[in-house]
Amino acid sequence: MSVIKSTVDPNSVEHKENREALLDKLAGLDAEHAKALAGGGPKYVERHRKRGKLLARERIELVVDQDAPFLEFSALAAWGSDYQVGASVVTGIGVVEGVECLITANDPTVRGGASNPWTLRKTLRANDIALANRLPVISLVESGGADLPSQAEIFIPGGQMFRDLTRLSAAGIPTVTAVFGNATAGGAYVPGMSDYVIMVKERSKVFLGGPPLVKMATGEEAEDEALGGADMHGRVSGLADYVAADEVDAIRNIRRVVARLNWRKRGPEPRATVLEPRYDAEELLGLVPTDLRIPFDPREVIARIIDDSDFDEFKPRYGDSLVTGWATLHGYPIGILANARGVLFSEEAQKATQFIQLANRADTPLLFLQNTTGYMVGASYEQAGIIKHGSMMINAVSNSKVPHLTVVMGASYGAGNYGMCGRAYAPRFLFTWPNAKSAVMGPAQLAGVLSIVARQAAAAKGQPYNDEHDAAMRQMVEGQIESQSLAAFLSGRLYDDGVIDPRDTRTVLGLCLSAVHSNDVKGAEGFGVFRM
Ligand code: COA
Repeated sequence: MSVIKSTVDPNSVEHKENREALLDKLAGLDAEHAKALAGGGPKYVERHRKRGKLLARERIELVVDQDAPFLEFSALAAWGSDYQVGASVVTGIGVVEGVECLITANDPTVRGGASNPWTLRKTLRANDIALANRLPVISLVESGGADLPSQAEIFIPGGQMFRDLTRLSAAGIPTVTAVFGNATAGGAYVPGMSDYVIMVKERSKVFLGGPPLVKMATGEEAEDEALGGADMHGRVSGLADYVAADEVDAIRNIRRVVARLNWRKRGPEPRATVLEPRYDAEELLGLVPTDLRIPFDPREVIARIIDDSDFDEFKPRYGDSLVTGWATLHGYPIGILANARGVLFSEEAQKATQFIQLANRADTPLLFLQNTTGYMVGASYEQAGIIKHGSMMINAVSNSKVPHLTVVMGASYGAGNYGMCGRAYAPRFLFTWPNAKSAVMGPAQLAGVLSIVARQAAAAKGQPYNDEHDAAMRQMVEGQIESQSLAAFLSGRLYDDGVIDPRDTRTVLGLCLSAVHSNDVKGAEGFGVFRM
């Protein structure tokens, strides 16, 4: 047994201040999440209800097993853009008849459920999650198709939505679609490409072209029902496999279909006995200093998320700016890599590379806990081969085949973001804490670099350099980079799968680990050439 000994004092002034600051950030994010929950606003929600229809989240709630959790993704998608926060679609993992499924639901209260560029990115991300983790897909469809004013951004890349569905099916991953309202034009290919299709009597309308378009194209006068009603698709075209009496009946049909999939997860089962961490998750709120330049001990985080706080640290004396070690989380074995003092040196990069290889040998998923300012710069570090060593770590992360989970706890700057399995390194899931910040470098450093470059350029041209302009430029750039580094901004751009309350970290990771075990968990046979 190697239980972590915590030295946290929850009554210290510093802890209390950190906690207050984080609670403040959480409250701010709650307000942003509320925008996604509000959908198109009271007017459209009421109109939808008056039509006797359920909201997207209500449909999801009825599909999933009673009291089963729903792990929602990308709730802040489109944040900071001209589109509604949430991007008019809800995605997440829910348990249906005991089977973990990837569920997507259009929000018809937001511009008729039409897909804008962020809806597309969010849906494609959900498809990626389904494919990588081998999760059956349930689509709850009611959408006006492409958001027409943004068609240039979505028409061509949007084809991938349908391609993904058939490729999921070809990979043996079942796809089930229920159409609650409109599925027009491209939208008609969602049921078209799905293994199972459920439609709702007098509600579903699935056609390549609605009455006006048909009239324009061929001159034919046709009614909605004859063109694409549930009854027609159930009796005549055969596109509908089940015709439900109403929405609730459609949801019952979905659940029956999933119950008959005879679905089996491939990964090993978790340990039967799971012990909770020995320390209170509440204390996670007080660990991260408000100033991200001040490091904190990630073992205090690890102690509050792993089973029994039992952690076998690997190479604790070597490269101690990175903590590596083995644990279980909700009964699943994991290897953890966690930044301890921000900067990654050659030793840390080499230690990480070895550790990632070991995890691949043992078919053990990896958890990356990010709080890094990047790899060390400076002449002596360059001469000692920091590029080679950093590349080695990035090579290992890129070619590792065990599932990766990433949590950005604090800073995520520079190539540290890459080496610690940032978004571009395709972790199966990536979540961010509300205080986290990510950018190519810190705002002050970035503004400073720009200033030095501008000063040198002026000198090269023999021009005077205006210090007043320089100060204004630095201030403006710092403000811009700071706002672009924030969790909501990054989450809005789908650079993570969601911003979570640090206290939920163990639960979220447990759900993710369970999901990744729907697929095989197998390490890599080989890596790229390591530069030594
Ligand atoms: N692109 C952009 N905006 C759209 C849209 C689309 N595809 N579909 C609907 N909207 C907008 C509407 O203009 C309306 O905006 P407003 O309230 O500001 O006026 C809002 O979304 C709600 O639409 P509304 O028609 O009032 O809702 P509804 O529930 O009665 O009908 C649809 C929904 C989807 C049946 C209907 O809007 C429709 O037929 N849309 C066009 C579908 C289509 O042909 N798409 C082609 C895709 S390639």
